[in-house]
Amino acid sequence: MSGKEDYLLGVNEAELERLRFQHWVWKKVTDNLFDRVGVKQGWKCLDVGSGPGFVSMDLRDRVGEKGEVTALDPSDFYLDWLKNEVNARGWSNVHCLQGQAEDADLPLRNYDFVFFRWVIAFVPDAEKFIRHLAASLRPGGIIALQDYWYEGLSLFPRGTSFDRLPDIVRAYYRAGGGDPYITGRISSFFRELGIRLIDFTPNQIAGGPQSDIWEWVHRFFTLHLPLMAQKGVVSKKEADTILADWVAQRANPDAVYFSPIVVDIAGELPA
Ligand SMILES: C[S@@+](CC[C@H](N)C(=O)[O-])C[C@H]1O[C@@H](n2cnc3c(N)ncnc32)[C@H](O)[C@@H]1O
Repeated sequence: MSGKEDYLLGVNEAELERLRFQHWVWKKVTDNLFDRVGVKQGWKCLDVGSGPGFVSMDLRDRVGEKGEVTALDPSDFYLDWLKNEVNARGWSNVHCLQGQAEDADLPLRNYDFVFFRWVIAFVPDAEKFIRHLAASLRPGGIIALQDYWYEGLSLFPRGTSFDRLPDIVRAYYRAGGGDPYITGRISSFFRELGIRLIDFTPNQIAGGPQSDIWEWVHRFFTLHLPLMAQKGVVSKKEADTILADWVAQRANPDAVYFSPIVVDIAGELPA
């Protein structure tokens, strides 16, 4: 792989499969944002931090044959996977660009829509990230994102070792140079860039042990709690205890998991 080797969540087959499932669980939330923004046939879109491109492919469905989608990611592994999918579908208007958002070689004043989901919370200089992307937006174009306001993550019943988890995950994000509260800062970035805020919508999903949202978080913790211990944001002993308590709650039909808040944000560059 070339590109950013130190990206917090890593790049590998297991993470790709986790992203695929995550996309399926949260797709309705993303679709709702695209509906409100009004992504149209013929639009030129940039999907930033696309990963394997699950959102890029949804955008291609929306913009059709006359539109265009560029997937930008530091990972050749994800982009190669996307290229295979795109070839299998016979699409000629989905392009892959390897690089980081902060300094990617992007055309100026070009895109109708620039989007990034679960990316900007990982980057050390979020302002630079947005500033560089905003320059690629055409006048009248829309820039939108979905990311965390890392509150709300909780489990009923209270009082298990799980209650400490939000602090641990926030420390995990910060250990990678990111900001688990990044969505609180976006409107000030927009204002400085002359972008008009047109949407700010928090989302939260909750469900019991048989729900998709439970399975989503299960896949995240089983993959990433050991990595959090490796990074030293939690001891191995505490990580093992949290995982054991979490797994035990699966047998409790009354347990409820509440996701962290994911905020939709969209802004429009004046024409
Ligand atoms: C959690 S994944 C989300 C993937 C995709 N946006 C989605 O919602 O399914 C984060 C992605 O951001 C990419 N990434 C990390 N740092 C980046 C940067 N500075 N610029 C662009 N992409 C970045 C990673 O390679 C990874 O594919």
